[in-house]
Amino acid sequence: MTVGMLDLAQIQQLENEHQPSLYAKREIALVRGEGAYLFDSDGRRYLDAMSNYGVAILGHADPEYGSALSEQLHTLATGHQSFYSDVRAELLSEISSIAPTVLTRYFLSNSGAEAIEAAIKFARVATGRPNLVAAKRGYHGRTLGALAATADQKYRAPFEPLAPTTTHVSFNDIAALEAAVDDQTAVVLLEPIQGEGGIWPASPEFLQAARDIASKSGALLIADEIQTGFRTGAPWAIDMSDVVPDILVTAKALANGFPIGLTLCTEAISSALPSGTHGTTFGASPLACRAVIVTLRLLRERDLYARSAALGTELMNRLNALGSPNVRQVRGRGMMIGVELKERVTPTLRALQERGVLVLPAGPTTFRLLPPLIWEQEQVDEFVVAAESVLLAN
Ligand SMILES: Cc1ncc(COP(=O)(O)O)c(C=O)c1O
Repeated sequence: MTVGMLDLAQIQQLENEHQPSLYAKREIALVRGEGAYLFDSDGRRYLDAMSNYGVAILGHADPEYGSALSEQLHTLATGHQSFYSDVRAELLSEISSIAPTVLTRYFLSNSGAEAIEAAIKFARVATGRPNLVAAKRGYHGRTLGALAATADQKYRAPFEPLAPTTTHVSFNDIAALEAAVDDQTAVVLLEPIQGEGGIWPASPEFLQAARDIASKSGALLIADEIQTGFRTGAPWAIDMSDVVPDILVTAKALANGFPIGLTLCTEAISSALPSGTHGTTFGASPLACRAVIVTLRLLRERDLYARSAALGTELMNRLNALGSPNVRQVRGRGMMIGVELKERVTPTLRALQERGVLVLPAGPTTFRLLPPLIWEQEQVDEFVVAAESVLLAN
C-alpha cells in the first residue's frame, strides 16, 4: 500500500489498530508542511502555532534546511563518536558560540529525555550524591530518570517506583526550595519557563535563589531549556537573568525536527566522568550535526531571535487587548505563550482547529502557542483574528 494513497479513514484505522493507545489523537492526519502552514489529508490548510511541540522552529519544508540535510545524507549520514568527525567538530564550535561561557563540554544525544538523563547521571557522578529537587508542574521527560523529575502524577504513577528520589517544591517558592535542598541533593532541576505545566515563567528572584541555594549546598543547578531553547528572543531563556547553571539541557528546536538532545556542562563536571560510562549509538551523527549547524545558521542569518521577541510581545499585547471574559491570563516570552482560560481548554482547541489554527494545550485550562519563528506580521494577524472569533464567541 502506498502511504500517499491512504485516505483519512484508512490512516486512522491503521494507527488505531497498530499503535499502543497512548495518545488522545485529534481527528485529522497531517501530511504536508510549508513554511508556517500544515496541510491535512483532505488538503485543508492550518496555521501552525505549535511547531510540533516547539520543534519546527524554521517552519516546514525549508529549502535551505532540506538541501543541507540532503547533501549530508549523500556524503555521510551516520558515524559513532569513537571516531572524529569534521561535521561534529564544526557543530561543537557553533555551540560554543552560543553556550554560556563556563559551559564548555557538550554531550549530544537523541531526545530531550535522553539529554536530561545524561544531565542527572553527570550530576550524580560529579557530586557523589543521589537525590533531585525539582518543581511542581515541572516536566522533564518520560524515561525513568527524567520521569522521576517530572511532577505530574498522570505521567508518573503508572510506572512507579521510579529511580532517583525527587522532592518537588512549588515553583517560584524560594523558602520551599531552601528547605528541600540538603547534603544528599545532587541536582536542582528547573525549567526557566515551565512549558507543559502551563507556561509559567520563573521569577528572576527564584532563579537567582536556586543558583545560590544549589551552590551553598554543593548541589548542581540544571536549567532544562528543552522547550524554552531558541524561542524566547535569545538562545536561552536564562539569558533574561544573570544566572549561569552548571548544566544546561536542550533538544526540540535545536535541529528543527531532526531528533536531537544536548547536555552542556562545565569542565569540572566533565572531568568527573569516567571514560566509557555513558554514550549513544545515534547521538552526534554527521546528519544530526549538520541539522543543528544549518538550524543555528538560519536562525542567525534571518535574525529570528529579534523578530520572534518583537512578534511575541505583539501577540501577547493583542491577545490581552481582546479583553475576552473567558481569559484569565496571557503570559510567556517571545514565541512561547500561554493563554489561561477560566474554563477547560479542549473546546477552544477544537474551535481554533475548525477555524484553521492549530495550538497545543498546556495543562487543563491553558492553550499554548509555540509557533515557528518564521511567523511574520501576516501570521500574527491571522492568529489574532481567529483567536478573537473563538475567545469572544460567547
Ligand atoms: C521542558 C521539557 N523537558 C523535557 C522534555 C522531554 O523531551 P522529549 O519529549 O524530547 O523526550 C520536554 C518535552 O516536552 C520538555 O518540554
